[in-house]
Amino acid sequence: DAKGMWSGRFSEATDAFVAAFSASEHYDRRLYREDIQGSRAHARMLADCGVITQADAAAIMEGLDAIAAEIEAGDFPWDPALEDVHMNIEARLTERIGEAGKRLHTGRSRNDQIATDVRLWLRTVIDETIGLLLRFQTGLVDLAEREADTVMPGFTHLQVAQPVSFGHHMLAWYEMLVRDQARFADARQRLNQMPLGSAALAGTTFPIDRHQTCAELGFEAPTRNSLDAVSDRDFTIEFVSAAALTMTHLSRMAEELVIWASPLTGFIELPDRFCTGSSIMPQKKNPDVAELVRGKSARVHGALQALLTLMKGQPLAYNRDNQEDKEPLFDAADALRDSLRAFADMVPALRVNRGRTRAAAREGFATATDLADYLVRHGVAFRDAHEIVGKAVAYGVAEERDLADMSLAELQQFSEVIGEDVFEVLTLDGSLAARDHVGGTAPAQVRIQVEAARQRLASG
Ligand code: ARG
Repeated sequence: DAKGMWSGRFSEATDAFVAAFSASEHYDRRLYREDIQGSRAHARMLADCGVITQADAAAIMEGLDAIAAEIEAGDFPWDPALEDVHMNIEARLTERIGEAGKRLHTGRSRNDQIATDVRLWLRTVIDETIGLLLRFQTGLVDLAEREADTVMPGFTHLQVAQPVSFGHHMLAWYEMLVRDQARFADARQRLNQMPLGSAALAGTTFPIDRHQTCAELGFEAPTRNSLDAVSDRDFTIEFVSAAALTMTHLSRMAEELVIWASPLTGFIELPDRFCTGSSIMPQKKNPDVAELVRGKSARVHGALQALLTLMKGQPLAYNRDNQEDKEPLFDAADALRDSLRAFADMVPALRVNRGRTRAAAREGFATATDLADYLVRHGVAFRDAHEIVGKAVAYGVAEERDLADMSLAELQQFSEVIGEDVFEVLTLDGSLAARDHVGGTAPAQVRIQVEAARQRLASG
């Protein structure tokens, strides 16, 4: 019971509301695997350093294994009166193995324990995140190759700007995810330090070997300052920050998917299995998955704000405020994982209505810049060319005709340097193919980038 935990110092039991108010086991039990992993390493180290006996360590190992099995089977007697995952597991251990269980916490505090647990947990989450990012990247690269020759309007201000390859657009999304991946990898590197041994805040009087626990838990090095180690939560903020930016990217993609799936553009068809209908309107097929991803970005952005605010007023070292980092962290991690999974599955399965994307590019005078560039190649200064083409477009708007649909004589009203060869630059495919340099939208360049991306993905 609650009084039992600190029965030495206290003369009355914890108020029932306070017990419930301070309990975190209902969510931090999610860290049970990492908590047990850390306890095993700690117990083994204590025994190897002669702080506890090898017999005690053996009993602790066996007890912790049994507890892990209990938790996985759903048989563990979680007790909110024991506050958190750490006290629940430790109390159960002593219940099962007696005296030896009471020795586990020698030279340790829940403060260095929780810092270790979260780092271990996040390390796995980051590895899974990178796995999902790679899967999504692979899907985008495949789609980019499939649609390298597909012409669509590129937009600025959501107004038709210039023709681009649909594959080029997919590779733009891919680039966002490459940066996201690097941010997660960077965060992982910095978080991979081992707090155990910092104890409550100042270290411990026992002759411990922090390098042993560090090696067993796969960390790069023991943390160098005990005060910092128990109070630092930068790693949660860095993870959620990288997650927030990834969600911003997914949300932008979601917005485009919604626009492209709308009959207003009709650019793409999303697979039925990723869409939902309406309870009243029989004709509806809604892009709810994309909208939910766009919506979930709000949770992750909120979590980032919560964590930054959580930390900003805390003096060194550990404060209980830190317990409030778990729910935003877990929620952000879940939203990120689910969103990445949804898009990694759905986006590569979309179908492009190539006729629609091409027609849309023809409707918006998308090759106007190409005509201006043509005039420049025939000796007209660019500013004059801009003016000339502007007039041709105004004429086209009035006549409801694209530049490519005008006769040579019509075009020549605007400039006498225009010749028969103008129609090559006015075609959508010609416009695309002409932007043939590193980073340009020419299908040949898209294929080069697809190849480079494939090599990068294959080299891990
Ligand atoms: N549950 C706490 C946390 O999430 C760890 C326990 C430390 N508690 C304490 N009173 N020192 O940070």
